[in-house]
Amino acid sequence: MRRNFLQMFFKGAMIISAASIIFAGCAKDGNDGLAGPAGPAGKDASETCKLCHNPSVVDSVATQFQLSKHEFGLAAEEEAGSTTCGPCHLQEAFKYVCKNNTTAVFYQDSATGPWKNPYAVPTYAAYGKLGCFTCHSSLHTTYGYSDITSLTTVAPVQMTMWGGEKTINLTADGGQSNLCVKCHQPRPLTSTTTSARKGKYLDYPAIAANPTAVFYDSTTGVTTNVNVPGYRTHIHYGAVGGVVAGMGAVEFGTGYANSTHTATASCQDCHMAPMTGAAGGHSFKAKGNFNGCNNANCHKTGVSSGLMSATNSDFTAVRTEIKGLLNTLAGKLKSSGIDIMNRNPDATTNLWAGLTTNNYDGYLNVYDPINNPNGPTYNTGGQFKNMGSTSSWTAAQKAINNAAPKIYLTNAQMGAIINFQFCLREYSLGIHNYKYVKALLNNSIAVL
Ligand code: HEC
Ligand code: HEC
Ligand code: HEC
Ligand code: HEC
Ligand code: HEC
Repeated sequence: MRRNFLQMFFKGAMIISAASIIFAGCAKDGNDGLAGPAGPAGKDASETCKLCHNPSVVDSVATQFQLSKHEFGLAAEEEAGSTTCGPCHLQEAFKYVCKNNTTAVFYQDSATGPWKNPYAVPTYAAYGKLGCFTCHSSLHTTYGYSDITSLTTVAPVQMTMWGGEKTINLTADGGQSNLCVKCHQPRPLTSTTTSARKGKYLDYPAIAANPTAVFYDSTTGVTTNVNVPGYRTHIHYGAVGGVVAGMGAVEFGTGYANSTHTATASCQDCHMAPMTGAAGGHSFKAKGNFNGCNNANCHKTGVSSGLMSATNSDFTAVRTEIKGLLNTLAGKLKSSGIDIMNRNPDATTNLWAGLTTNNYDGYLNVYDPINNPNGPTYNTGGQFKNMGSTSSWTAAQKAINNAAPKIYLTNAQMGAIINFQFCLREYSLGIHNYKYVKALLNNSIAVL
């Protein structure tokens, strides 16, 4: 529907613009007056509008884009108006944070006040579905082809998960991956405002350095615990950016390194390669498309691994190994005292279904009234999480609460949960950055 309208509108606009260009310079054609001399030939519309508005450029790309979740996903509608979700989910908000270089560094209103996350936009910018103008911010400015080639941002990206303490800069292809990472990056896990850290993002290096320290104790209550684990205690959906860059997780131990992909392959190389089926180009999908792998500079006949495919033994071996390590880590968390990773076999709601034997989705198996009503309600100092004040509880609720397990999490367990989320939610089972993912999983397993 939208496209038909656009094409009709465009045809009309073309005629008007061509006419006004060709007749520019003519004198006013009054009833009795003489026709003026013909003006110089104007620029042909094909030099401007038609550069892009032709079947092989905008029309063809727009058709590919119909296969992209940027286009058909529902998140932009769900988050419309949200000033904090907007920077990654809404077109105008994304353009706003890029243009204004909005900082990700947390701040305090006053010396004693809680810490706040500044990565947000004003309400008037919190709208817009993701589309061509999100990434190609200069469209319709000069009407030259450079309007397409100039991207909204390729600048290094402050990591919001780390309150700007770390910056990702992927330099392949002139930094084009930074455009993707600006949104495809993990979000901060914050502390409670009543704890000593006062709302700041968690101290991930301290978690890594002190694995045996207690992170959370259900008997000491909500106010003093640095964070109360809930169903949605997670790094959000953008693990890929951190994993490709090889940074941002809880790095227990040593031995971290990056695969060749980090420095040499851009997101675009693998995700926007010539299409196969529904993947590649402006569908932005990699699944099932090996055209990007098998280009002249990368995997090719003659190199030891040969051409990449779903059956190439290097590809299958890496993915089998990482799947095994994810299974082992979840099992180790369970045997260390807490079976906390949520299981969800439904592939329509679990984007990572099938990546582990138990179909974990990265959420925590903790009571949540909507998403996990049968989950365990860990006693948090005499207070059910998400169930309001104790005075309104029924006798049955009080009985469940009294019987609820008293739990505590060590830093090792919390760090392992975060790293599990990183390595599951990067989707590719190690293809993005095998060395980093392998080290994270092995070190998390070792520390539990
Ligand atoms: C550098 C490439 C480029 C040039 C040059 C260009 N356009 Fe566009 N135009 C686009 C893109 C990309 C879209 C978005 C298409 C979509 O949403 O599917 C667009 C959309 C449009 C739309 C739909 C409304 C909108 O803004 O989304 C109209 C109308 C339009 N262009 C008219 C023109 C006219 C008239 C010219 C010449 C004077 C022109 N364009 C030149 C790339 C270009
Ligand atoms: C403005 C922020 C933003 C930018 C820039 C961006 N993405 Fe996305 N991307 C998203 C969001 C948000 C979604 C999920 C949309 C939804 O579900 O409604 C998404 C979804 C995707 C998906 C589908 C994931 C799935 O669940 O199947 C892929 C693949 C993807 N993006 C790749 C890329 C690549 C590659 C780039 C860079 C060329 C990029 N994205 C740039 C925000 C962005
Ligand atoms: C730093 C960028 C960023 C911010 C801020 C952000 N998101 Fe997202 N979100 C993403 C990306 C990227 C994806 C898709 C990633 C993928 O599927 O690979 C996503 C996916 C989602 C999805 C899943 C959509 C699907 O395809 O199933 C939901 C729901 C969502 N976000 C909600 C929110 C809400 C609510 C907020 C604000 C509280 C928020 N997001 C803030 C980057 C962000
Ligand atoms: C998520 C970001 C993103 C969105 C959304 C997006 N593009 Fe692009 N586009 C890119 C990137 C990055 C490149 C450069 C790819 C490269 O150099 O390999 C590109 C390249 C192009 C090109 C150059 C030639 C080509 O086919 O690669 C055209 C034309 C184009 N985009 C049109 C569009 C149109 C039309 C839309 C909307 C229907 C759109 N783009 C939406 C990121 C985006
Ligand atoms: C070396 C190639 C390569 C690079 C570089 C790469 N990806 Fe991927 N990506 C993959 C593969 C392979 C998969 C998994 C496909 C599958 O499930 O079979 C994948 C999966 C994904 C998915 C899940 C949806 C999908 O397409 O299957 C997202 C989202 C994603 N990558 C985003 C990114 C972003 C953002 C970047 C850059 C920061 C990036 N990728 C860089 C190869 C790559």
